[in-house]
Amino acid sequence: MLSHLNISALIFVTGIYLSACGNDAITSADASNERAVNMGEGVYAEHCAQCHGAELEGEPNWQVKKSDGTLPAPPHNDNGHTWHHDDKLLFGYTKLGGVGVLPKNMKSGMPAFSDTLSDEQIWAVLSFIKSKWSIEAQQRQASMNVK
Ligand code: HEC
Repeated sequence: MLSHLNISALIFVTGIYLSACGNDAITSADASNERAVNMGEGVYAEHCAQCHGAELEGEPNWQVKKSDGTLPAPPHNDNGHTWHHDDKLLFGYTKLGGVGVLPKNMKSGMPAFSDTLSDEQIWAVLSFIKSKWSIEAQQRQASMNVK
């Protein structure tokens, strides 16, 4: 029969095993990482969907500037141009926002998320967005990441 001590030791060891194998920090946009995609789905719904659309469809007429000089939020699905950018740019754009990335004279409606989201949450939401692209778009985009 297992003693109490053995049971706690077992739980302890299982915990270490799980944290080592199942909960590695998410440090890249990886559509095949189920944990990242699941975490990213929640981040997307809470922080991105109100502008980029619940189905990643973007705002209507997203290519036409609004009267305040900003662009509407583009789609993040295959119809947009998110998949035309490499991972580094997508990460920087999400973390620093349009103000942090675009030339000074351009107005942006894309907020910076550096104070709201951790790097891990940003990689997770990008993993989720990627998981919504067609295989063709994923492959095209992946080829831009190879330097
Ligand atoms: C308040 C509205 C708003 C919210 C919320 C928002 N965005 Fe954006 N986003 C925009 C707009 C508008 C643009 C168009 C470019 C610009 O104005 O800088 C954009 C552009 C982008 C781009 C660059 C363009 C592209 O297609 O690659 C990325 C990446 C992006 N957003 C990711 C995100 C992510 C991820 C979230 C959630 C964490 C998010 N955005 C939340 C409005 C928003």
